[in-house]
Amino acid sequence: MAQVETELPFVIGHRGAAGLAPENTLTSIIRAKKEGATWVEFDVMLARYGEAILFHDETIDRTTNGSGAVADLSLSELRKFDAGLWFDPAFLGERIPTFVEAMVTLAQQGLGANVEIKPTKGAERETATAVARLIKSDWPSNTAAPVISSFSEDAIAVVHQEIPEVPRAMLFWKLPTDWREIVSRYECDAIHMSDRHLTLSLLADAAAMGLPVRVYTVNDPERARALRDMGVQSIFTDRPDLIKD
Ligand code: G3P
Ligand code: MG
Repeated sequence: MAQVETELPFVIGHRGAAGLAPENTLTSIIRAKKEGATWVEFDVMLARYGEAILFHDETIDRTTNGSGAVADLSLSELRKFDAGLWFDPAFLGERIPTFVEAMVTLAQQGLGANVEIKPTKGAERETATAVARLIKSDWPSNTAAPVISSFSEDAIAVVHQEIPEVPRAMLFWKLPTDWREIVSRYECDAIHMSDRHLTLSLLADAAAMGLPVRVYTVNDPERARALRDMGVQSIFTDRPDLIKD
C-alpha cells in the first residue's frame, strides 16, 4: 500500500479523460495526465471469473465493438473486443484494461486515483473484496493512497472492513434523507455526488460534519469556478483540458 499522503486536487479526470479519449482505458488515463490532471477517477467491475477490469456499463455494447454482459464474459473474451473504435477511429486497437494494468499506469504517470467500485448487480461484496485485495497487494508505493468510492453500500461496507486505512467516499446521485447515518456507519472521509442535486445547505451540512464534497460530472469551466467558490473540494470532469486547477 501507498506511503504517499492522499491530498486531492480540485480537478479529477472522469473515467480518465472521457471527453477526449475512450473512457476507462489506459489511453484515457494518460490523456488526463497530458492535459494537466494529477488525479483520475475510473470504474472497476468484475469479469466472469472475478477478473477486475476498468469498465462502466454492465454490458459491453456501448463502449466496445462487441455485445453481451460483462459478468458473462471472461477477461480473455473481453480482450478480443476493441474498446476505442466506438469513440473515434483514431483509437482503434484500444483494449479493456485490468485494474492491475491501471495501477501500473498510475505509477508510471505519477497520478493519484479515485477507484470507483462499480459492481454488476448481485456482485457488490465480491467486487469490493477483489478491489480491496488488489489494492492491498498491488497499489504502487510511490503513488498517493487511493480514494475508494461506490454507489453500493455493501461495497463500501466491505472496504471499510477489509482496508479501513484507505480513504472512502460514499457516492450518491441524490442524497437520501439518511445520508448522515450512512457516511457515519462506514466512517467515510468524503461525499461524492452529482452536480444536479448539489445545494448550498447540503454543502453547509457536510462542512459541519467535516466532510469534503466532490462533485460529478462538471465539464463547464464557469460551473467549475462557481463550485469552487461554493467550497466544493474537487470536481470530476471529462475535459481536464478545459478545467484546470
Ligand atoms: O465517481 C463519480 C462518477 O464517476 C459516478 O458516476 O456513472 O460516471 O460512474 P459514473
Ligand atoms: Mg465512475
